[in-house]
Amino acid sequence: MELFAGGLEDYAARYTTPESALLQEIAAYTQAHTSRPGMMSGHVQGMLLQMISWMIRPMHILEIGTFTGYSAVCLAAGLQPGGYLITIDRDAAQHQQARERITRAGLADRIRFLTGPALDILPTLRERFDLVFIDADKEHYVDYYELVIDRVRPGGFILADNVLFHGEVLLPESRQSKAAKAIQRFTTHVAADARVEQVLLTVRDGLMLIRKKAS
Ligand SMILES: C[S@@+](CC[C@H](N)C(=O)[O-])C[C@H]1O[C@@H](n2cnc3c(N)ncnc32)[C@H](O)[C@@H]1O
Repeated sequence: MELFAGGLEDYAARYTTPESALLQEIAAYTQAHTSRPGMMSGHVQGMLLQMISWMIRPMHILEIGTFTGYSAVCLAAGLQPGGYLITIDRDAAQHQQARERITRAGLADRIRFLTGPALDILPTLRERFDLVFIDADKEHYVDYYELVIDRVRPGGFILADNVLFHGEVLLPESRQSKAAKAIQRFTTHVAADARVEQVLLTVRDGLMLIRKKAS
């Protein structure tokens, strides 16, 4: 098994459509100018987000956790004409950088930036979302989920990143970090929620796909 596991990520990347010039630019900026480049979705997960967006063809998307804008650009790919993605981040400097790059790329009308703590911003939103991506501080995943679920249309989707938390979810609770415990609380919460059905994919750091049932 290990023989395979070692090269699997590179193999997957080799047979995944290469990043666009804009995504390459964001990835290079993230590597050179941020202290935690691993927070960025990156090539294979980014293409998965694009594929999901193309499959759903959403009108309104919400992202919680912009960072350098990589996943926002991926998720915006399949938007309907006239549709838009709202992305939230509390880091004003990072948001400014991402906004400038996305404006230069001609995507300003499709990606809207709301700067501040997500817990403050989420209750102010009035859109009906087809797709939501939760990818900010793990401690508040359950709060974010509960704040957005009524704004997701029946049949709409929520995606949650880092649900494996570097494999820490497999450790006994006494050895888990605060963030891993919060992730565990989140996955348990979703699994017990009769309003949704879900699948936990072992892609990268774990991606949960959640569908809000239609009735
Ligand atoms: C993992 S990164 C997002 C990565 C991005 N979605 C991607 O895939 O490229 C998490 C981001 O959440 C932001 N964040 C953390 N806590 C937050 C909060 N309470 N409110 C808003 N943003 C927050 C951080 O500033 C950081 O940029």
